[in-house]
Amino acid sequence: MGQDFDRLGVGLISVGWMGKVHARAYRALPEFYPELGIRPVLVHAADTAADRLDYARDGLGFARASTDYHAVIDDPEVDVVSICAPNFLHAEMATAAASAGKAFWIEKPAGRDASETQAIAEAADAAHVVTAVGFNYRNAPAVEHAKKLIADGAIGRITNVRGTMFADYSAEPAGGLSWRFIRSLAGSGVLGDLMGHLVDLVQYLVGPIDDVAALTSTVHATRPKLAMGQATHFAVSDSAERGEVENEDYAGMLVRLSDGAVGTLEASRVATGRRAHYELEVYGTEGALVWDFERMNELRLAVGRGPHSGFTSILAGPGFGDFARFQPGAGTGMGYDDLKVIEASKFLASYSGREAPSADIHDALAAARVAAAAEAAASDRTWHAVPPTAGTNGAGTNGAGANGSASQAGTTT
Ligand SMILES: NC(=O)c1ccc[n+]([C@@H]2O[C@H](COP(=O)([O-])OP(=O)(O)OC[C@H]3O[C@@H](n4cnc5c(N)ncnc54)[C@H](O)[C@@H]3O)[C@@H](O)[C@H]2O)c1
Repeated sequence: MGQDFDRLGVGLISVGWMGKVHARAYRALPEFYPELGIRPVLVHAADTAADRLDYARDGLGFARASTDYHAVIDDPEVDVVSICAPNFLHAEMATAAASAGKAFWIEKPAGRDASETQAIAEAADAAHVVTAVGFNYRNAPAVEHAKKLIADGAIGRITNVRGTMFADYSAEPAGGLSWRFIRSLAGSGVLGDLMGHLVDLVQYLVGPIDDVAALTSTVHATRPKLAMGQATHFAVSDSAERGEVENEDYAGMLVRLSDGAVGTLEASRVATGRRAHYELEVYGTEGALVWDFERMNELRLAVGRGPHSGFTSILAGPGFGDFARFQPGAGTGMGYDDLKVIEASKFLASYSGREAPSADIHDALAAARVAAAAEAAASDRTWHAVPPTAGTNGAGTNGAGANGSASQAGTTT
């Protein structure tokens, strides 16, 4: 690359919710990861909404702002690109970034479906550009600690997982029809959105999902129309003009993992009363652990059997993932933005050759393939196999430690 990491040019495509979070993460990076010696400079942002361009310049501090995203990719001072656009634009933007030889950090789901995600992965591989994907929940220190406990065998051989990604962001029937509800703009609904995070967490912590049975449902058939870039998907509208919701509000899956564990995974964007209840329970022969994003600094752990077995709550602290970067003492809570600072550090550490990438485009493809199998299974009401994905960084280690081994895995029917 032969470049000056002390002035790493950042381009941002789309200044919506995630675009702002990415920009804040780049700005914070040198404070939390000084030893990387990387100083991101916010060079060029693009959005089709004029007021968001003003905010990119005046609020976030980008030097330049354009309505055409090609101007960001083609800007010679831009070294890396964040792609935070609605899903239907990801493939063309990522392919353009790869063709220009620029590393990209793309939000999930990377493509609208598995074939689009595969095309992005192939473009990135062909151009040898570093990628990162927004599977931010991996970065929670309590999740990293859970991964270590599982890999060390602290809860034995993993027998089953139970995950729920329940949010109520669309529980309001008057919630606006943003791009997320339109198949040509988003692809699948909650399967690619919240379920993608959950699938990634399972594959990161425990191991690849091999087989899927699934069902989906759409709870609110129509919603008030919302113009692109006008508001987020949290917006409620009293517009009388309504459009059809074209993808699923709820998805449920039964899964078999390659190492013998089984599980149930559910995701809903219409779970009334659940704000961001993103919970994963992992059960093993020697114990269990539970993590929930609403209490993201906490890990509930049960070790051992017998009359005194039960869950203990452990608050994240130094020694758990990257916690010590943010706070010196256990129990002082981190927030969502901090997970994105960690993600930015992993992206740029891998870009500068210091570390192997964390969640990258191949992990996005692995999750997309599970979603595709789930859509097929929901459609024909049979089990579907998930094609294996080479090159993922999330391959879990089920029962690799002293108390269990993958070879002990039982059979499931
Ligand atoms: N990792 C996470 O936890 C997480 C959370 C939310 C969203 N996301 C993902 O981030 C992506 C963006 O979601 P969001 O919630 O930020 O969306 P958003 O609706 O808040 O923002 C989208 C932005 O894209 C802009 N845009 C539309 N067309 C454009 C074009 N042609 N060129 C440039 N900009 C254009 C819009 O004007 C808007 O500013 C999606 O893929 C979504 O799934 C990830």
